[in-house]
Amino acid sequence: MTRVLSGIQPTGDVHLGNYLGALRQWAIGQHDSDAFYCAVDLHAVTVRQDPAELRAATLGTMATLISVGLDPEVCTLFVQSHVPQHTELSWLLECTVSLGELRRMTQFKDKAARAEGRAEGSDQGGDHVSAGLFTYPALMAADILIYDADRVPVGDDQRQHLELTRDVAQRFNSRYGEVFVVPEAAIPTVGARVMDLQNPQSKMSKSAESPQGTVGIFEDRADIARKFARAVTDSESEVRYDPDAKPGVSNLLSILGAATGRSPADAAAGYRQYGTLKSDTAEAVIAMLEPIAAKKAELDADPAELSRIIAAGADKAAAVAGGTLARAKDAMGFLPK
Ligand code: TYM
Repeated sequence: MTRVLSGIQPTGDVHLGNYLGALRQWAIGQHDSDAFYCAVDLHAVTVRQDPAELRAATLGTMATLISVGLDPEVCTLFVQSHVPQHTELSWLLECTVSLGELRRMTQFKDKAARAEGRAEGSDQGGDHVSAGLFTYPALMAADILIYDADRVPVGDDQRQHLELTRDVAQRFNSRYGEVFVVPEAAIPTVGARVMDLQNPQSKMSKSAESPQGTVGIFEDRADIARKFARAVTDSESEVRYDPDAKPGVSNLLSILGAATGRSPADAAAGYRQYGTLKSDTAEAVIAMLEPIAAKKAELDADPAELSRIIAAGADKAAAVAGGTLARAKDAMGFLPK
């Protein structure tokens, strides 16, 4: 059976981009694969986190994974730091990846620029860029390779990290023998890159400077409707899917298409006005998210059940991760205990 692995950072509220680009695909794919999904708390600390908030966000993210339809009886749900083999393999991969490869990562360049207050339009000061932010892709490669994952369902922004993971796996295998499965990225055809509603040139993001442009999956319906009503479009009035010329309208069409199971171009059919496109998109999103919020409320009422699921997931994940790590260490020439 196909092995699948993916992760999400437990920082801030899960948004529509995370859901359409990743979580929804995870839920769809869980039944015909042996799937592992985690809250990547070790990635979250590449930027400074408040300890109490990190703890709460990690629990909240785990509850969210179940709320979007992931069934802990069907797939393995775990917290990354509960499986310490990830960090050990990460070191071996840091010694496999090159400085030049890490330097080319656009997410590092963007995040470092933002942290240093150099990004265009950024008003954040400070110059702290952690070494972990730089070596992050080696840890991400470890997350994937340690489960022998064949397929990694992610949004479009993770494409480059996946390419690097494949390169690192191939290099390791050519140096030390066939230890790792070389994984494929699985990027959805619609919803892979949900853009900020206020700034449709940038992707929707948890750290967005524009909260009005980001739709959280648990926001109340009035707020969601308001955000779509105020979404930035353009000065024309034609509803047409054309991401270069009409990024705002095209983003709405992508979201509407993703929420209603159509391509963005098909979703455009029949619209003459931006107003109805916005209100219909809001309605479709609200309807799609409603059952998720209902499930989350159920889970929030039973924290013991969530803890049990998290503990069981860690055991299942560690059993697989331990085997792969032992294989990699042996191939590299570490002396067995
Ligand atoms: P993260 O936490 O930023 O995002 C989680 C998932 O959501 C997708 N995503 C989006 N998809 C569409 N439109 C958007 N605007 C949007 N924003 C986010 C991301 O592509 C991702 O799939 N490095 C990863 C976490 C990670 C990981 C891994 C993923 C760590 N280890 C191993 C896969 C496999 C990250 O920061 O995702």
